[in-house]
Amino acid sequence: MTRPSDTEELAVLATSLRRHLQRQQCVGIRFIPKGDLLRETAAVREGGTNLLSGRDGDLFADSSAMYQAKNLEELRDAIGDCRRCKLWSGRTHLVFGVGNPKAKLMFVGEGPGRDEDLQGEPFVGRAGQLLTDIITKGMGLRREDVYIANVVKCRPPENRNPEPDEVASCEPFLKKQIDLVKPEIIVALGKFAVQTLLQSKVPITKIRGSWHSYHGIRLMPTLHPAYLLRNPADKKLVWEDIKQVMKEMSGESA
Ligand code: URA
Repeated sequence: MTRPSDTEELAVLATSLRRHLQRQQCVGIRFIPKGDLLRETAAVREGGTNLLSGRDGDLFADSSAMYQAKNLEELRDAIGDCRRCKLWSGRTHLVFGVGNPKAKLMFVGEGPGRDEDLQGEPFVGRAGQLLTDIITKGMGLRREDVYIANVVKCRPPENRNPEPDEVASCEPFLKKQIDLVKPEIIVALGKFAVQTLLQSKVPITKIRGSWHSYHGIRLMPTLHPAYLLRNPADKKLVWEDIKQVMKEMSGESA
């Protein structure tokens, strides 16, 4: 397992702390009395359940279960019935990821849309069909050969863009997925995947088509399939990017 950087660990701890405080607020605790951190109050008992006990109430359980996950199943278990950000309330399914857990090639999108939310699988709607065509007809691979995941795992309402706090809550899971799959190449689809993985605000139109590095993994930013549905003339740009990926996978480029 790759050790998380201090910055990554700090980000996860900050998210855990925020969740913990939000949960406390939800059950009516507005301040923490000094020296009284563990005392159970009537407010935290609801229908016989102590809302602050066990995994959910443990400030550090989140980050440790996630970092200790040795495979994708354990990571999925660590995510659980996620309520770390507000997107949980509108979801049908949490869309974790799909594909070969040892894939050499990983695609990262933005977040589930309506079809993905209903089916619990990334990229199965119209944009997904286009991505599937790129993988199968364009690259000659099967969907099961690659791994596909998103930055946020729950559908933003009305397919709006994910908000910064939602990305911040969910990105540790994407990073851990990458850590477990260990792809040789990542194709980052669209602005949110690129900005999240490269921690850069450079517009996608400026950096698409050139190789970048995500912790030593070759990363190719390209346009999002949903954008291509609206702008089919730009499909040729994505095809150029994908050809570079294929070349890299066949070991042709240096
Ligand atoms: N768009 C995405 O970014 N991801 C999906 O899973 C579907 C559409």
